[in-house]
Amino acid sequence: MNTKVLNNPFVVSKSIPDECFCDREKETDALIKMVVNGKNVVLVAPRRMGKTGLIHHLFRQSEIANNYYTFFIDIYALNSLREMSYVLGRAVYERLKDRKEKILEQFFKIIKSLRAGFRIDNLTGDPKFEVSIGSIYEPLITLEEIIAFLEQADKPCIVAIDEFQQIAEFQDKNVEAILRGVIQNCSNTTFVFSGSRQHTISRMFQSKSKPFYQSAQMMSLDPLDKEVYTEFSERQFRNYGKKVLPEVVERVYDTYEGTTFYLQILMNELFSMTGEGEVCTTNMIGTAVDNILDLQEGIFISQLSMMSPKQKQVLQALSYEGVTKSVTSASFIKKYSLESASSVQSAIKGLNDKEIITSSPEGIKVSDYFFEQWLKKNY
Ligand SMILES: Nc1ncnc2c1ncn2[C@@H]1O[C@H](COP(=O)(O)OP(=O)(O)OP(=O)(O)O)[C@@H](O)[C@H]1O
Ligand SMILES: [Mg+2]
Repeated sequence: MNTKVLNNPFVVSKSIPDECFCDREKETDALIKMVVNGKNVVLVAPRRMGKTGLIHHLFRQSEIANNYYTFFIDIYALNSLREMSYVLGRAVYERLKDRKEKILEQFFKIIKSLRAGFRIDNLTGDPKFEVSIGSIYEPLITLEEIIAFLEQADKPCIVAIDEFQQIAEFQDKNVEAILRGVIQNCSNTTFVFSGSRQHTISRMFQSKSKPFYQSAQMMSLDPLDKEVYTEFSERQFRNYGKKVLPEVVERVYDTYEGTTFYLQILMNELFSMTGEGEVCTTNMIGTAVDNILDLQEGIFISQLSMMSPKQKQVLQALSYEGVTKSVTSASFIKKYSLESASSVQSAIKGLNDKEIITSSPEGIKVSDYFFEQWLKKNY
């Protein structure tokens, strides 16, 4: 099959056409099964593994797309229940606004707290949603009304809340208990939560003392299978009259430990560097990486400029060391001429809070592989 849907089939943006979406068949089937059976799901995986892409992929499956209303919100940048109510209200409205029938009328009938923002455009006669965050006075009431609306919809609903761990940062008190209260009685609405802060998410859903305890089935997302991704890449090149040697894909896969985002960025660059009828070989990888790092250099410099000198030093050390088990050990401190265990500790805390570094049972590492490579190259 020759499916030339885009100029470059290694898509790095949000919406990935099915032809350019690699695998995830088992995960998609498992997700369909859970939501069809009314089970809430919590999808956890390290950053950049493909959580958001998978949720959108799920929503595109005919079994879901034809039978459900699906809504997606990302709460990464939000700080309050009020903002979340606003974003959810808006998402529900946006999804339904083209259906001029009864459903939109129902929307404002049930969601009374947003009715003031409902207007009919004088020129076009189209409905408009002009609610601002400031006009949400009682976020909980608005949220309850939105859910009540979904509960009476003529089809079952799926609400995906991406970056769910962010609720731990909301200013509101007892936000977990409040949200749990709102969603636990739903029978027409299923939730897909997803997040990358594994600790926070696990604590929320797996500690007995927490409101969300056992309220959703956990699902983790592993890296794409190496062989599957290699075949996928070879196929994409072939469809465009190009060829990539399997060892190129394998080397890229190993360098970035199979993390989807990095694989896609690299293969995207390698694809664009390979002319029609040409072969992509391993000696092109270095240039591809340089091109990518060059493009991001401005961001890296500005990130560095926001760090204290100690944080910079520790970050540089980590970029050389790779995954580091003990950052306060005498040998690590000596090797990189760091000041003291306590100063390393406080630098680590700052870097962790900004998500510049990631801690896991294996150790601490720079979160962004490209930042790590750039630091190594430049310092
Ligand atoms: N199965 C897939 N096939 C091809 N590309 C994919 C696939 N899954 C994700 N991608 C691509 O990989 C990149 C990262 O995916 P995505 O944004 O879904 O990850 P994420 O886990 O949500 O990341 P973050 O933690 O940053 O939110 C995106 O650019 C997306 O286009
Ligand atoms: Mg995401």
